[in-house]
Formats: sequence, structure tokens, C-alpha cells
Amino acid sequence: MTRSWRVDLKSLIRTIPDFPKPGIQFRDITTLLIDGRGFAAAVDALVEMARPHGADLIAGIEARGFIFSAPVARALGAGLLPVRKPGKLPGPRIGVDYALEYGTDRLEIHEGACLPGHRVLLVDDLIATGGTALATVSLLRQAGAEVPAALFVIDLPELGGAALLKQAGVEAASLMSFE
Ligand code: PRP
Ligand code: ADE
Repeated sequence: MTRSWRVDLKSLIRTIPDFPKPGIQFRDITTLLIDGRGFAAAVDALVEMARPHGADLIAGIEARGFIFSAPVARALGAGLLPVRKPGKLPGPRIGVDYALEYGTDRLEIHEGACLPGHRVLLVDDLIATGGTALATVSLLRQAGAEVPAALFVIDLPELGGAALLKQAGVEAASLMSFE
């Protein structure tokens, strides 16, 4: 469903300087989420970007990625594949370590959660260095999945993540960017 509201999504993002570390301009999505029309418009736009890819699964990255990936999967009738931080998944799992703009972390999925030949789209709130998205792509490819595209609410192009994804053969698209 496409709604008729025109919403300036970028104006709904709040910038908090020096969080969580000095020098980081934190792009805060919570101000978009509490605006009902803004949240709906962001999800609707992601759904329309995702639809042509005919995905079997939408991969959502913990934690902020879950907020957008779940309604996108629901709208498309696709499955939702939670990509989780360590210590959360109960079954046998595969994982990958990665670097963040402000630290390091690890992501995991259950073994057998996605299968060779599955078309999986990645949905997250934001791409910065691309460490998180690239790690997820390598994890999904390790499981045999095809990852045609990755969709974000926010791109920080100066940090180069979207360009790295494209080099890795993944189409990257976002609803807005902050230089
Ligand atoms: C944030 C954001 C992305 C990632 C982007 O998640 O939600 O997943 O950073 O950064 P990158 O492109 O440099 O990898 P974060 O790890 O802070 O976790 P959260 O969703 O639990 O807040
Ligand atoms: N994740 C990584 N970098 C970020 C930033 N600058 N703002 C919000 N989330 C982020």
C-alpha cells in the first residue's frame, strides 16, 4: 500500500553530537519512529524499493534493523531472518566478526536459517562504514544465499559503506543521506 501523505523524512531524524564517542554525529531514528506518519512513510518506501527484488527472506540486523525489517517482510509476505548479536540465538549457529564506526561486534544466524539459492534482502536503519552490512552479506553468502540488494533508511556516504557494498556486488539504496 502506498499512502498519500508527503512526509519530509530527513527532518524527522535528530542529530546528537559526540554520541557514543567524541567526534561521532549520531543520527537518531527515534524521532522518526515516534511520528506515526513518518514511520509508516519510511516503511512504505522501503517496501516499494524491496518489492522488485522478489526476496524470499528479509534479513534484519539487531537491534535497530529489526524495527524496519519486520514490517517490510510482513508487507511483502517474505520471511524475516533475524541477524543477531552473540549469545542470543539458542540453536546451532554460524557467525562473523566485524568492525563498527565505534567498536567491534559479532553477528550470527541459525544454521539452516537460509538455504542455498534463497534470495535475501538486507534491511537496516543506517549504513556508515559498511562493516555491519558487509559482514552480514558474507554470512548470508556463506550459507549459500544470494544477496541482490541492501536497503537502509540512512546512508552516511562519507564513510564509504554503500560504495563498498556495490563493489561487493550488492545494490545499495537508502531513503536519505547525511554528508
Ligand atoms: C548501527 C546501525 C547499523 C550499523 C551501521 O548498529 O544500526 O547496523 O551501526 O554501522 P556500520 O555501517 O559502520 O557497520 P549498532 O551496531 O550500533 O547496533 P544497534 O542496532 O544495536 O544500536
Ligand atoms: N551507527 C554507526 N554510525 C552511526 C551514526 N553516526 N549514527 C547512528 N548510528 C550509527
